Amino acid sequence: MKYENILTEIKDGILYVTLNRPKQLNALNKAVFSELEAILKDAENNPEVKGLIITGSGDKAFAAGADIKEFAHFTVEQGKELSANGQRIFKIIETFKKPVTAAINGFALGGGLELAMACHIRLASENARFGQPEVSLGVTPGYAGTQRLTQLIGKGKALELLMTGAMIKADEALKLGLVNYVVPQEELIAKTEEILKTIMKQSPVAVAGVITCVDAYFTDGIDGFKTEVEEFGKCFGTEDFKEGTDAFLNKRKPNFPGK
Ligand code: CAA
Repeated sequence: MKYENILTEIKDGILYVTLNRPKQLNALNKAVFSELEAILKDAENNPEVKGLIITGSGDKAFAAGADIKEFAHFTVEQGKELSANGQRIFKIIETFKKPVTAAINGFALGGGLELAMACHIRLASENARFGQPEVSLGVTPGYAGTQRLTQLIGKGKALELLMTGAMIKADEALKLGLVNYVVPQEELIAKTEEILKTIMKQSPVAVAGVITCVDAYFTDGIDGFKTEVEEFGKCFGTEDFKEGTDAFLNKRKPNFPGK
């Protein structure tokens, strides 16, 4: 299917999702969100898709945030709706049962950083810039930036970035643990593919279990230790487990059926 604001392509099991509003620095408007949701739904059900790379088109921006022009005249109710919808769609990414990586190729600001933080793994190009500049616009972050930034880099540094609205460079983002790798821009996709392909060689069922367990750590009212017992136990009834253990015992590489 063709989308107006996002480019998609499937190659060797990877779905490339490229935000494609380069003139607006890939700012996230309502249309982007509804296309993203449809893409995720398709990706979930498409057995050809084993993992995702989300990136931005052009060499300047991953995404420079929510579309300021679109929400500039919103009411309180519309503001709440915008936030709840964005949070809901980013939660789909965070809990997606296939690995989702962010290849951050430039500015990741506001909602753009919030999108990257919802992904399972983040890689950045050397020119990438990160920040939650919402306070400079008179708003708080709305797509769970206050929550995920705090989870990823800790309260003290998160509060500093959130309250100053400061923009940081890729090397500082790496030091803070906000991204896993920083590479030259021309190597960004290849490095992201390398990580994703390593994950894609593992049992998809077990990888999905890991995502569920880690997410449980951050979910109120859910005991992550109990979740792990459940997920671990479930694996013993899967074909992937039989294949993985048989391959080990017979000194061969596993070929996981993914069920
Ligand atoms: N929304 C809408 N349009 C945006 C945008 C955004 N978030 N960010 C950039 N653009 C547009 C600019 O308006 C400009 O369009 P025009 O040519 O039509 O004027 C175009 O993209 C290029 O931008 P600049 O000319 O500003 O480029 P620059 O290189 O001088 O600056 C920048 C780059 C520092 C990223 C600057 O564009 C900027 O500060 N953008 C806004 C960043 C921001 O505040 N993001 C947070 C948004 S609020 C949010 O995300 C809330 C939330 O959590 C839900």
